[in-house]
Amino acid sequence: MNLLRRKSVTQLQSDALTDHRLKRALGATNLTALGIGAIIGTGIFVLTGTVAAQNAGPAVVLSFVLAGVASIFAALCYSEFASLVPMAGSAYTYGYATLGEVFAWIIGWDLILEYALGAVTVSIGWSGYVVSFLHDIGIDIPAQLSAARGTLITLADGTQVAAIFNLPAVIIIGIVTLLLVIGIKESANANNVIVIIKVAVVLLFIVGAAHAVNPANWHPFMPPSTGVRGQFGWSGVMQGAGIVFFAYIGFDAVSTAAQEAKNPQRDMPIGIIGSLLICTVLYILVSGVATGIMSYHDLNVPDPIAVAADHAGLGWMSSLIKLGAIAGLSSVILVMLLGQSRILWTMADDGLMPKFVSKVHPKFRTPWITTILTGVVVAFFAAILPIRDAASLVSIGTLLAFVIVSIGVLVLRVREPELPRKFKAPIVWFVAPMGALSALYLMISLPWRTWERLIIWFVIGMVVYFFYGVRRSNLAKQRV
Ligand code: ALA
Repeated sequence: MNLLRRKSVTQLQSDALTDHRLKRALGATNLTALGIGAIIGTGIFVLTGTVAAQNAGPAVVLSFVLAGVASIFAALCYSEFASLVPMAGSAYTYGYATLGEVFAWIIGWDLILEYALGAVTVSIGWSGYVVSFLHDIGIDIPAQLSAARGTLITLADGTQVAAIFNLPAVIIIGIVTLLLVIGIKESANANNVIVIIKVAVVLLFIVGAAHAVNPANWHPFMPPSTGVRGQFGWSGVMQGAGIVFFAYIGFDAVSTAAQEAKNPQRDMPIGIIGSLLICTVLYILVSGVATGIMSYHDLNVPDPIAVAADHAGLGWMSSLIKLGAIAGLSSVILVMLLGQSRILWTMADDGLMPKFVSKVHPKFRTPWITTILTGVVVAFFAAILPIRDAASLVSIGTLLAFVIVSIGVLVLRVREPELPRKFKAPIVWFVAPMGALSALYLMISLPWRTWERLIIWFVIGMVVYFFYGVRRSNLAKQRV
């Protein structure tokens, strides 16, 4: 039993050239939009306020800078891999080519936390926004159908009812899944429209609310530590970076569309790095403006950006921001489900999951079985789970993938230096270790209970691997 058997990079590269099962329909603009579609979501619309009020004060801007820098290191490493091995499996496939099968499995299993659990979390947030927006315009979804099973909801007359399941979350996942089955081009087009709307809303906030910034609100920029780790001072900024990191998750999902890109070697780095840079700038501006408009103490609300707009005298904007968030979250769900279905498809194609799920739809040329499977499972959990703290589990899963990808880039540079690399991470001996270390640092700043859950998830994953993949993978069979 060779757990460290590897796929050959040269073989993967030639597979990438000859494998036309999925439709190559995406150019650089679509890929960048996919990245932005996945990145801008709950993070900026919610966490900005929480972190400003509880961890960093106006220095939440620094938390965004730090999490952004850590992400850029990882993005450079992802870009090198995605242009070298442009396969739908993303980090899972890079792991297969560099560290060996058991690590590939661990990454694939880990990415379920990022993509599937990410979609579950975000669709629950989406449901909250939709219910509140519909309420604003006079439409009330029955409370029993608007939240996770068992959640107690207080009605207008003061009585309480227990929710049965989260219907809006199921509906959005159903719609997005259908779109993904119908086609990559159709999905990318829908994503483009959503991205235009949400970036417009974000820009409108930055430009429209800037006049209301009162620099006095930025003093003290970094409120002194309360003495408790993570509450203001530098430790608050650092812990804040770990929390707002969630807002950056998604640029790596661009790499799962590598087999659907027209010119992946050139366009993968553009999509990954371009989307991240655009969002980093937007995040720094949004958090700067929001904390400049009002005291950070008052930002501890579920909708801080809408509240800040209100405070700036732009009351009309708050519904628009809700709409932007609703639109924005739908594209996050779209790209997360896209990423998950591509990773599972590749894992099944490699024999680590049942082969039949790796079928491609003859007409739509999409991995329709893994797409529907992902949609059903994600919808099920989104309907019934009252997810608390799930965001940090999504973050830790993503960060772990960053650590492994950053190490993988170095391993491959040493092992196969002569491979023709269309895109090379600059000063790799600095960028890759910094990518791994900064991701590890952000992981450490997450709560211990998140680590416990991560460990439990891996124990389950290893059991699945030893019962199934270890003997059934294509590589295992080749050796028999
Ligand atoms: N970055 C995505 C968000 O903030 C996951 O919702």
